[in-house]
Amino acid sequence: MAVLIDGNSLAAQIREEVQAEVAQLRDSSGVVPGLNLLLVGDDPASAVYVRNKGKDCEKVGITSTILRLPDTATEQEVLDIVRTWNDDASVHGILVQLPLPKHINEHRVINAISPLKDVDGFHPENAGKVMIGLDGFIPCTPYGVLEMLRRYNIETSGKHAVVVGRSNIVGKPLSILLAQKRSPGNATVTICHTGTPNIAEYTRTADILISAVGSHGVITKDHVKPGAVVIDVGINRITLPDGTTKLVGDVLFDEVEPIAQAITPVPGGVGPMTRAMLLRNTLTSAQRVGGKQ
Ligand code: GUN
Repeated sequence: MAVLIDGNSLAAQIREEVQAEVAQLRDSSGVVPGLNLLLVGDDPASAVYVRNKGKDCEKVGITSTILRLPDTATEQEVLDIVRTWNDDASVHGILVQLPLPKHINEHRVINAISPLKDVDGFHPENAGKVMIGLDGFIPCTPYGVLEMLRRYNIETSGKHAVVVGRSNIVGKPLSILLAQKRSPGNATVTICHTGTPNIAEYTRTADILISAVGSHGVITKDHVKPGAVVIDVGINRITLPDGTTKLVGDVLFDEVEPIAQAITPVPGGVGPMTRAMLLRNTLTSAQRVGGKQ
């Protein structure tokens, strides 16, 4: 039986910590952290994500403002909004929900966000800072995974971490962070991706296996060394034979759990941590303005 890494309870703990620091910051400096979210178009999943992020803010005393634009909005309109928020001192975090409609260039929009307010950690300046170990904003999902490892006292130093997936948001930054000479970190890191001929050959040697692919079933028991720590970043919706749908990860949980040392469930694993770290990043941004750090 593996230890279940409980993202819900860890995230609740982080929200409590953030809430206390938000109150402290407000009392000591008058600064109230603010997160502005921009949603373009009417993708139902994105709408839910944005609404949840707004609710999370409310719980901890962060002011959130959601602006919704129709999918006919132009790139220029989006850029103008971002620039207005860059110049607004009451806004400490800016989040433009992705994906954007096809006619809007995501890179140009992300580049327009002030790196000091880029609480998603997507701006090239923050990506560069992660690469060389400087303080910037760590993208929320890799940051959440690091916090899970840290708070469950999972040793990473000298271990072999295998990351499956090389996205700019998860796989790439997480690989770099795990290799860095700090804690958690100092691991030997292998990145597997769609160009890797036999993924199992690598994953079977992992002490810490992290899957960030977005495809259910890519990690089976044959991919996992007994006693490994398994972190499942995937969130996939599958349709069951009776027609209902269900959220599942990349990992075949039922067959991997019995051989793992520790494992994250889906839902209730990495997902809630991602949301919690967005609050932490927004607070950090406000603390920089309010005099702390
Ligand atoms: N779309 C899916 N995940 C994310 C995220 O973490 N941030 C933003 N801005 N858009 C997303």
